[in-house]
Amino acid sequence: MTTHSSGPTGTRSSRRAPAFGTICAAADPMFRERRYADIAEATRASGFLLVEDVRFTDQQCEEFCSSLGRPVVYDDKSIGYGYEMLLTLDGSSDPTRVVSGQGPMPLHSDGVLFKNRVDVVFFYCLESDGSAPGDSATIVCDQRSAVARMPRDLIEPLVEHGLEYYTVERGFFTVQPDAWFPVPATLTFPEGTALNVALPFADDAPAAWRTRVAGMPEPESRNLLARLDGHLRRDPFLYAHDWRVGDLLLIDNRLMLHGRTAIRGCRRLLNGQVNVDGWR
Ligand SMILES: [Fe+2]
Repeated sequence: MTTHSSGPTGTRSSRRAPAFGTICAAADPMFRERRYADIAEATRASGFLLVEDVRFTDQQCEEFCSSLGRPVVYDDKSIGYGYEMLLTLDGSSDPTRVVSGQGPMPLHSDGVLFKNRVDVVFFYCLESDGSAPGDSATIVCDQRSAVARMPRDLIEPLVEHGLEYYTVERGFFTVQPDAWFPVPATLTFPEGTALNVALPFADDAPAAWRTRVAGMPEPESRNLLARLDGHLRRDPFLYAHDWRVGDLLLIDNRLMLHGRTAIRGCRRLLNGQVNVDGWR
């Protein structure tokens, strides 16, 4: 993975350079000139691309999404609370909302629970206020590096058994059956095989889904998934992004996992998904 803490303009981010990923400013020629193929390539090459100081209206954010690739669009028959091109993640205090609520989100790939293709997941920060560092953060896991250094007795049972899911937040996962269903734990891309997983929520957090290892007794399944989560969160596989207004974070959803820490204070993000030709 390549790392750049400054863009070609020499605009240096005040953030500490992460172990993976690329940071640039909105003034960077690649972004200013909207070289979408280069933006997608920078995201793919280093796992995520953070563009700082972007000033998007909702409409400009949609236009960016449509120009980067083919937006993944849902209608209200297939997904809850009105997800079209962009979903607003506003840390809602409504107790029936989990995905757009305030609790932590475990590491996951987008698309696992809908079994659909998602190449890039992006977030744009409209509002961020009152959070201490580490709170209200989006976490990104370089899962390919993590898997490359994963003990065999951890990865092999996952691949062999596969994972099963049960959607709890029925107002969001409207099309899924009221039953456990299987999803392969890995997918293969031109770059190699990667995890395709949604890890379980913490016991004390509101859950949008449940996860178990197929055909494995419950205590063993819980233990294996807890070990997996612990491994994926080790240094240097994890990056925690503290939001500033105007941050645009693009993540390669095939090769990275993402999640969030619990939201404190006020945080509002726009969230979209895009597919890019040639990525699989
Ligand atoms: Fe997600």
